[in-house]
Amino acid sequence: MPDALAAEPPPLSQDDTLFARILDPANRANPYPLLARLREKPVRRQQDGSYVVSTHAAIRSLLFDPRLSSEDLPPFRRPPTGNPLKDWLLNPIKDRIATAHRPLIFRDPPDHDSLRHLVMEQFTVKRVRGTHDRVAAVVDTLIERCRGRDRVCLVEDLSYPLPVAVICELLGVPEQDESQFQSWATQLSTALEPDARRDADTRRANVASFDAIADYMRALIREKRRKPADDMLSGLANHADPTTRKMSDFDLVSTAILLLVAGHETTVNLITNGMLTLLRHPHELERLRADPERAPRVIEELLRYEPPVHFRTRKALGDIAVAGETIPKGASVMLVLAAASRDPERFPNPDIFDPDRADIQHFGFGAGLHYCVGAPLARIEVEIALVRLCQRLIRPRLAQDPPSYRPGAALRGPAGLEITIDGIV
Ligand code: HEM
Repeated sequence: MPDALAAEPPPLSQDDTLFARILDPANRANPYPLLARLREKPVRRQQDGSYVVSTHAAIRSLLFDPRLSSEDLPPFRRPPTGNPLKDWLLNPIKDRIATAHRPLIFRDPPDHDSLRHLVMEQFTVKRVRGTHDRVAAVVDTLIERCRGRDRVCLVEDLSYPLPVAVICELLGVPEQDESQFQSWATQLSTALEPDARRDADTRRANVASFDAIADYMRALIREKRRKPADDMLSGLANHADPTTRKMSDFDLVSTAILLLVAGHETTVNLITNGMLTLLRHPHELERLRADPERAPRVIEELLRYEPPVHFRTRKALGDIAVAGETIPKGASVMLVLAAASRDPERFPNPDIFDPDRADIQHFGFGAGLHYCVGAPLARIEVEIALVRLCQRLIRPRLAQDPPSYRPGAALRGPAGLEITIDGIV
């Protein structure tokens, strides 16, 4: 059967070329001038019939528009293995199940809302606030490990290991399995990139990671039913409220995977982008070091100025008129959240990093129905990490600027961040 996802893309028009340049890894270090050009035409039709939306006003109206569906993910389809039993029988069944039980970020109401409600019952304020001391302890341990060195790689030494340790503990994943989770999370987060949906090798690697993590989760859920503990997975797996629908086991697995993947790369990127921005603005670093109360302002401005999520895709369920264009029913729509957060119509001097600006209504965590469920947790992790780094690293300087970036354009962040230091307090 021909694979539509692997089809050659049509030749590029001028508008396509602009978005293609944004996707091009060569422009990853500073895509903002290209995003500014994108905003000159708030809604652009691309040659393949998809639309790119880039201004704050247009994106805001679309994020709250029920005619824009999040069920834009193509049906799950495993690449052929050469084994007829798998290719004709087992894998099509698995694919149908995976497609029907996509994680809630790719679901619309009413399914989205009931799944999200069940997650929020577990993601309580108490539980999230309760992570504070543990996050601080992990951050301190990771910084302590750098003692005696004059150079650290922020990604490897801190940003990367921290979020996975925190979400594994919240979910109830044993500590010894964390490193395995890191590699699954890294691989699966590429599924948000448009190129990854076309590239057969990436899809094959994603399927392998998905199958491995799903097997792991099924076993862990069985264990949580046998021996419940005070963690989110135990709570979801042993849901006892007869007045609300409980999550099916398929949804339970996809939700657990989503919580791991959605919260990993994004938090890594915010910590890393945060330190990179502070090192480029030493005055702000110094102010944060001297006055940690500034952290919430700094973090909100970072989410506007250097957001980890640059765009998300949707699908139009009807014709939608926006910013003088009509997006037709069925079209795929790219919401370039990062362009909206630098829109001069909304934010004065948007290219200046200014934690004291009066209005920071960014789209760093999205908006509307799919607003990030992990935002409070991410804020705690990033606040503790940035404040501790500013206070404990002596004379930190960037060893390389700009750093190298990972290939992803939707989830954008440095691959590494080398920092020279004079020691650790
Ligand atoms: C700095 C870190 C983070 C950033 C920048 C971020 C960003 C986002 C954004 C932009 C969305 C909206 C997606 C859309 O509209 O399609 C989102 C949704 C989501 N995020 Fe986060 N996120 C972060 C951390 C986390 C964490 C720590 C978790 C969980 C542990 C998490 C779980 C989720 C989930 C489950 C959704 C889907 C919500 C829904 O569809 O209703 N995120 N996030």
